[in-house]
Amino acid sequence: MSYSILLVDDHKNTIRIWSDILSEEGYLVLSAETGKQALDIFQEEKIDLVVLDMMLPDMKGLEVLEKIKEIKNDIIVIMVTGFGGVETAVKAMRLGAHNYRTKPVEPEDLKESIKKALETLESISSKEQVEFIRNRQKKDFDPKNIIGKSPAIKDILEIVQKVATSESSTVLIRGETGTGKELIARGIHYLSSRKDYPFIDVNCTAIPENLLESELFGYEKGAFTDAKQSRKGVFELADGGTLFLDEIGDMSYAMQAKLLRVLQDKIFKKVGGSKRISVNIRIIASTNMDLERAVKENKFREDLYYRLKVIPITLPPLRKREDDAIIIANHYLKQFNKEFKKNIKGFNDDALKLIKSYSWPGNIRELKNIIERGVLLESVDKLTDKHLMIQLDDISDKPEEMIDENIMSVQDKNQVRSDILSSQFNLHLDSLTLEEAEKALIKKVLELNNWNRNTVASSIGINRTTLYSKMKRYNINKNQM
Ligand SMILES: Nc1ncnc2c1ncn2[C@@H]1O[C@H](COP(=O)(O)OP(=O)(O)OP(=O)(O)O)[C@@H](O)[C@H]1O
Ligand SMILES: [Mg+2]
Repeated sequence: MSYSILLVDDHKNTIRIWSDILSEEGYLVLSAETGKQALDIFQEEKIDLVVLDMMLPDMKGLEVLEKIKEIKNDIIVIMVTGFGGVETAVKAMRLGAHNYRTKPVEPEDLKESIKKALETLESISSKEQVEFIRNRQKKDFDPKNIIGKSPAIKDILEIVQKVATSESSTVLIRGETGTGKELIARGIHYLSSRKDYPFIDVNCTAIPENLLESELFGYEKGAFTDAKQSRKGVFELADGGTLFLDEIGDMSYAMQAKLLRVLQDKIFKKVGGSKRISVNIRIIASTNMDLERAVKENKFREDLYYRLKVIPITLPPLRKREDDAIIIANHYLKQFNKEFKKNIKGFNDDALKLIKSYSWPGNIRELKNIIERGVLLESVDKLTDKHLMIQLDDISDKPEEMIDENIMSVQDKNQVRSDILSSQFNLHLDSLTLEEAEKALIKKVLELNNWNRNTVASSIGINRTTLYSKMKRYNINKNQM
């Protein structure tokens, strides 16, 4: 039987080359240059596999993927992502993509991926396909990737091991942004007996309040206007495994009450449903919020706080982890050398001094990004402090401590930051509070980047979750502007 493949890419040349190669292999090849075209073809033709570019002129690749999956849930989709698109790729995998390839994609590689994907279609059921994807994700999140030798991280790794053996205890992971909360949560899951079941993470900040309930518990057909079919929520999807409630501090008070009930009874109902559903999951929650304060201010329920805090884990900021910054920098230097086919041997003394003395407000994420950039852009024997391009501190994070602990270089950098702010945004920094400056910066960068939160988050050096919570805290939204 000859399989039909739909190629979706707006580069005519790419389409032409791939069409030729794949036709030679005996596939029937169709192509589309826009998301809309792709969806039209998909609805009319019988397609077995789609190769889908993330960047299309009219729609996001992820949107196209979602729509295609709505039409035909078990369709095999191979996503093609640009450089640095790993996060989007992971999202695509969660939306049901079979695989992803990073550009530039070699024809041989594409041919091989397609062949393998179609083989799985022939030989395994879709349940096993889910298993297959899960296993690969497991490899990506091997707890061995948790690097560090400081006593603090050693203690935490010990706790992680112990927690993993207790099957269902709820864990609350706390720590500043980028300290590894998600990494630790995944570590606990993959070391536990639940490892062969799903690890599902839900970002409580990113999901609008009115959708969170159905996202968590699912809904029955007809529960609301758009509910054309009944759907499972993450509580059910994670059955047997671990549910990671990321940024739990941002959950609304009303939703907290509902969550508490489920944690107590382990039983819930879908939105619009009457059947009682019981599941076996472990909950891991995380936050970088001061929950005790939120409890005092009546923003976080005290009963839920105690319910979650059965096993508390607090991740120290990188600046308090002794020599870990150097160890982690070397780890990522090796990793990115391999990824970008470089051979940078290490750091010079000034670079090492900077890595040790800098406050790392964005913690390990910031360090990792800086090493990635350095390795990608330079082809030197050793990276120097100049190559590290530490520019803009995240001014929101623990500024008092930064002043205490950080030497000249940070003050210089803050000066640079303040110059950039004043010149680009016409702000009179001396008349603003730190929060006002941060709010103004976020608003401005959102405007400049057409409200693309991914771009903005990486441009100001925080992750998207943090951006979402800051936007929420400062009440910044597009419609207001
Ligand atoms: N100990 C570690 N060793 C190596 N890499 C780490 C370590 N801790 C975290 N990382 C890496 O740093 C990045 C940020 O980690 P992670 O997403 O787990 O942080 P987080 O605390 O959840 O951040 P946020 O609060 O911003 O969501 C990830 O790429 C992760 O792999
Ligand atoms: Mg996180």
